[in-house]
Amino acid sequence: MSDPMRPRASLRTAVVWEVLKDALDRRVKATGRDVLDVLDTGGGSGNFAVPVARLGHRVTVVDPSPNALFALERRAAEAGVADRVRGVQGDAHGLFDVVEPGGYDVVLCHGVLEYVDDPAEGVRNVVAALRADGVLSLLAAGLGGAVLARALAGHFKEARQALQDPDGRWGEGDPVPHRFTAEQLTGLVEDAGLEVAAVHGVRVFADLVPGVLVDTEPGAVDALLKLEAAAAEVPAFHSVATQLHVLGETRDAGEV
Ligand SMILES: C[S@@+](CC[C@H](N)C(=O)[O-])C[C@H]1O[C@@H](n2cnc3c(N)ncnc32)[C@H](O)[C@@H]1O
Repeated sequence: MSDPMRPRASLRTAVVWEVLKDALDRRVKATGRDVLDVLDTGGGSGNFAVPVARLGHRVTVVDPSPNALFALERRAAEAGVADRVRGVQGDAHGLFDVVEPGGYDVVLCHGVLEYVDDPAEGVRNVVAALRADGVLSLLAAGLGGAVLARALAGHFKEARQALQDPDGRWGEGDPVPHRFTAEQLTGLVEDAGLEVAAVHGVRVFADLVPGVLVDTEPGAVDALLKLEAAAAEVPAFHSVATQLHVLGETRDAGEV
């Protein structure tokens, strides 16, 4: 899904995309079906939904923003996958007002849990959308990455505030309502009845290195992508990642 015209964009998505693509492949093999039913809650304008549809899967995007759904429709048409992408206005709390529970092989919840009023209920809802053998791809803002970023920018009071705040916020002006540790996220996933199959740290370095070092040095983006991929798997780096990705599986899916 990396865009050769926007190499820096791939730094935001590469780790998650590789994990997700692998999870989709494993579901295809386990179910014997080439076309999976995928739900993207808070899928926005289709950063993941459109590439997933390009793999041949059917994707339903639930998002409260009409503008995002409009952009999604246009993007899906441009990518030639309009017949496989359905946008529905709704949100994680009222998910089953707009989609059927238990109807999806894979559910994505990327960059959404930060904004829902009750993250535990949000995770329970996305898990309830899964079939008996299904996979959840959960991506949310990491606490440690925000603390580190504030401190390195010289905002030491805000860094301490984020560290000590139960929601990981650095102050009134913080646009993100909730941040999470890896333990909090895996706890939410397990409490909702899934097994944690993998945890990855996302954007461990990418948001901290000065852009000029990435943009001017030949081969720097590629080398940074490889470094991010290597660090993503190492638990010690999870505590400083900008985002955390958790792959959860229903017990049936894990046994296949
Ligand atoms: C940071 S964007 C992420 C978009 C997409 N998932 C991605 O990874 O590129 C957050 C999205 O969550 C949506 N959103 C906000 N509150 C939500 C809620 N309560 N339930 C579902 N989606 C929500 C927003 O409209 C927005 O499209």
